[in-house]
Amino acid sequence: MQPEQQLALVGGNALIPEGPPLWPLPDESVQEALIAAFSDGSWGRYQGPHIERLEARLAEYHAVPFALTCCSGTFAVELALRAIKVNPGDEVILAGYDFSGNFRSIESIGARPVLVDIDPSTSSLDAAIVEDAIGLTTKAIVVSHLHGGIAAMRSLREIADRRGLQIVEDACQTPGGNVEGRMAGTWGDVGVLSFGGSKLLTAGRGGAIVTAGEDIHQRAKAYCEQGNNAFPLSELQAAVLLPQLDLLDARNGVRRQNAATLIECLRDSSGLSAINTMPPDSAASYFKLAWLFDENAWPIDRARFIAALQAEGVAIDIGFRGFTRRGPRRCRRAGDLTHSARAAERTVLLHHPVLLESPATIERVTETFKKVRRAFSEPNAE
Ligand SMILES: Cc1ncc(COP(=O)(O)O)c(C=O)c1O
Repeated sequence: MQPEQQLALVGGNALIPEGPPLWPLPDESVQEALIAAFSDGSWGRYQGPHIERLEARLAEYHAVPFALTCCSGTFAVELALRAIKVNPGDEVILAGYDFSGNFRSIESIGARPVLVDIDPSTSSLDAAIVEDAIGLTTKAIVVSHLHGGIAAMRSLREIADRRGLQIVEDACQTPGGNVEGRMAGTWGDVGVLSFGGSKLLTAGRGGAIVTAGEDIHQRAKAYCEQGNNAFPLSELQAAVLLPQLDLLDARNGVRRQNAATLIECLRDSSGLSAINTMPPDSAASYFKLAWLFDENAWPIDRARFIAALQAEGVAIDIGFRGFTRRGPRRCRRAGDLTHSARAAERTVLLHHPVLLESPATIERVTETFKKVRRAFSEPNAE
């Protein structure tokens, strides 16, 4: 009998609860917001109170003067680049391992991505080598906080200020994260948020930028207002996001606690290393919890490891493909991209809903990881 078959007999799909999908949660406050928007008709209007309220709340929450909502996080990155005046022909520094849409957002402006390797302990741009990548036409840096890691924003900010560059800080995976005492998204000249269907704050689709720059906000607004507000978040989407913002800090707290437990319990699993190096005074939000899977230390490859855990009901998947195979026609490679390539090959990501589960479920998840390891190391053990 194959180890996968043995596992299925032992555990079944124990971690998949019966019923509706795990995310979004059926929050009463969201239901009330939906009903209220239905009752007052605001759900169907071009203009109403919710967008204005949400933008004010997002600005207040991030302690910046301006927030502007839009149709997606992907578009928000493009909007941010336009708002800081990245022009066709400019270069924009980006990690060799990042969300694929960020590469495209740079391209969509006619700018050119410059790939810099990641620091493997954070999954984000390696600030120590960014400066060497700056060329005559380099205008900006796009940096993402990924998979529960926190980018080295203080160093990046210092480099950008000294070299006259601007930063787009992608906090789509880290809303409410704390980066060296400041809200994630506020070290950049512009911060970017996503409200996509899987995200910690969700409206199915949607995004926003936050900024302290009045001129940046004005340019972004002017770009969006072409035609009849061409890239909007809807009033209904804003209505359901408002109550979620009130729940975010408490939920981030639970996710952090459970992520710390999982990281600790699996620390001794050789061949699985957590990506959780934090700068001081920082805390991530855990849209995903990441490990690097070292195939040399396992009797199976990453695909089989993931399939076995998924068969056990654990919501786990591979990470991004990264950009290390993109050719010189589309981007400039600044140095070696070894860690980015390794991240693309080895990252495994636990999806966030499980991080709001009970301690007993968290324990079952760690046991399932260990069980998979045992089943493949000693096929007759289970
Ligand atoms: C780091 C990062 N940036 C941007 C986005 C894009 O957000 P959206 O799905 O709202 O377009 C995502 C989505 O997963 C992301 O993970």
